[in-house]
Amino acid sequence: MEIQFHPDERIWLDRVADSAQSLGLETYLVGGFVRDKILGRPTKDADFVCVGNALDLAQKVAEAYTPRPTVSLFKTFGTAHIQLKDGWDLEFVGARRESYQSDSRKPQVEPGTIQDDQQRRDLTINALAVSLDRDRFGVVIDPFDGLKDLAEKILRTPLPPDQTFIDDPLRMMRTIRFATQLGFTIEENTWNGICQNADRIRIISQERITEELNKILLAEKPSIGFDLLYRSGLLERIFPQLVALRGAENRDGHGHKDNFYHTLQVVDNLSQNTNDLWLRWAAVLHDIAKPQTKRYEEGHGWTFHGHEVVGGRMVPKIFTQLKLPLNEHMRFVKKLVELHLRPISLTKENITDSAVRRLLFEAGDDFDSLMILCEADITSKNKQKVNRYLSNFQLVRERCREVEEKDQVRNWQPPITGELIMSTFGLSPSKPVGIIKDALKDAMLDGIIPNTYEAAHAFMLLKGAELGLTAVSR
Ligand code: CTP
Repeated sequence: MEIQFHPDERIWLDRVADSAQSLGLETYLVGGFVRDKILGRPTKDADFVCVGNALDLAQKVAEAYTPRPTVSLFKTFGTAHIQLKDGWDLEFVGARRESYQSDSRKPQVEPGTIQDDQQRRDLTINALAVSLDRDRFGVVIDPFDGLKDLAEKILRTPLPPDQTFIDDPLRMMRTIRFATQLGFTIEENTWNGICQNADRIRIISQERITEELNKILLAEKPSIGFDLLYRSGLLERIFPQLVALRGAENRDGHGHKDNFYHTLQVVDNLSQNTNDLWLRWAAVLHDIAKPQTKRYEEGHGWTFHGHEVVGGRMVPKIFTQLKLPLNEHMRFVKKLVELHLRPISLTKENITDSAVRRLLFEAGDDFDSLMILCEADITSKNKQKVNRYLSNFQLVRERCREVEEKDQVRNWQPPITGELIMSTFGLSPSKPVGIIKDALKDAMLDGIIPNTYEAAHAFMLLKGAELGLTAVSR
């Protein structure tokens, strides 16, 4: 097979090919770029392998450009990297092979042929090499039938799976990630290799594991990956809290749903409506505290009271454990987990404006995300029920829109500041200031006073008098 390249790609490919020729280096385009090119997936990352010194090649390529782009050299690893102006990322490495010394079980890496390099890769579909030699430019070198596996949508290791996965256990997660992203099937031996080596994931850094988890979560149907992670035994090692949701208990004819598969369904539903990684994390974590809060109430059945509160508290811990950022993204996920039952309570009859205002105020700018999560949380198989719940949420959205238009509480900022309270009553920072601020907020949310400065000011004076304070300025 010979690959045809786009004219834009030819510009930098020809420069690499010419540089390689002038240095007399056998050079190949390898890895994900080749795979994605054949699959028709867009990519801007290109990896090159040359049989010889990759640092020399990268420098030579850079010289062909004016202005000369920066080359990042990683001498210890023998790799180099060039970022081109139009977004292309070129990575250069020398072909390598493993050599086993008789006195050590740990392999050493030393220069090798392109074949040696190909067999060190994770999957046959990632072990394709495209020659850049002038007399066979574009020809695919495929010693492991990667093209056949690409056509048949199969993920298979080039070497016996144990060897490939022991070399780098992250490859087990990569395989599952590719199964999720590409909708490919994992070949039986490869799958058994993952199941047998799952425990080795423990030697991989949390950052690399989480990067793969995020990629799985950002796929079109993340449930594929989470289910494979679960069935291979990887999930209980990297994210036991999610595995704890598995199972449906039945007592006296009262059952409850399997919260693991329910969660996966919610994630898939939600993923049809958003690509926001953090909203997807909120879906993964929305019921995370169900195992801790599960109770059986005689004659009534299973309850999970307070799982949204306990779940909210678990979010920072899980983010820490997974090395996800402890910043506004974490706070967003926590907030959504805490609030995920609230819109349901607004679908009941006789809901007051006050309840609507409280939710709008608490959700703020994340109100729409919260509604997307709640709608995804409907996983009934009964179409009529689904439609009824969805139209109830539609009513909640409308009611919230009306109240927001009238009262503007989503981004409510108190019209009376703490400073004003202090100067009015001659106070220094102290408890009464907080009491007045809270009372003002509640009065506005409960509709006791309108959302205006005048009303808030009058209310402040009243509340201060109630607390025995005297106004020193008005
Ligand atoms: N590779 C490997 N084992 C790994 C990581 C990478 O064998 N643990 C090899 C594969 O041949 C892969 C290539 O290095 O195709 C480039 O790796 P990388 O850029 O991380 O991944 P891609 O396959 O390009 O895919 P993606 O960008 O989606 O991660």
